[in-house]
Amino acid sequence: MVAVSDWTGHFAELEGRGYFILEDVLTASQCEKLIQDFDKRREMGEFQDAGIGSSAEVQEKIRRSELVWLDHKNPPSAAEPALSLVEDLRQALNRRFFLGLNDQECFYSVYRPGSYYRRHVDNFKGRNSRIVTFILYLNQRWERSRGGELRIYWTADKIPGRPAEKKADQRLNLQECFLDVEPLAGRMVVFYAPELEHEVLPCHADRYCITGWLRR
Ligand code: OGA
Ligand code: MN
Repeated sequence: MVAVSDWTGHFAELEGRGYFILEDVLTASQCEKLIQDFDKRREMGEFQDAGIGSSAEVQEKIRRSELVWLDHKNPPSAAEPALSLVEDLRQALNRRFFLGLNDQECFYSVYRPGSYYRRHVDNFKGRNSRIVTFILYLNQRWERSRGGELRIYWTADKIPGRPAEKKADQRLNLQECFLDVEPLAGRMVVFYAPELEHEVLPCHADRYCITGWLRR
């Protein structure tokens, strides 16, 4: 894990936009070890079809992917670097925003070719216990043709910066108001779970990540 020495700037983005993105938080070999652990568990049949809502009902029109829930207090050794960074994040969020985040959910997530997760927010209807979402991507290489970007929706007024600068930023689509994030190894996306709408675009290659929520 690459320790984050100062969360201040990232938390300002979280307040302003509702999300932030970090690069290189895991090394290539840490990502590699994780993927090996994923593949071992796939061979052992530990992955299950991901469901939606509190009943975790599988609805293939909305979400097609596979997961293994982890015990974050007793994680597989391959997941330790990732989860110790998440623990660091949890404590820093509590210090900065007094969020009282004291619980966590987390899982190994695989999108095989043909998978996706349509536009959604990360909370069950009427419940808001998931406060902050984190996603750590593991694929060493990723090309456009593979699809599978994380699409983050937002309202244009939330985007800080001068209009001309925003126009020049190729990754921003101001008309549609979304940002597409490639699922690249070492990249971590953190966002405010109750509000931020997002989706995983249809994916054409195996896509690996660790996903979870900080809760209270
Ligand atoms: C989710 C989700 C995004 C991703 O699992 O709820 O939105 O990039 N995942 O895998
Ligand atoms: Mn989600």
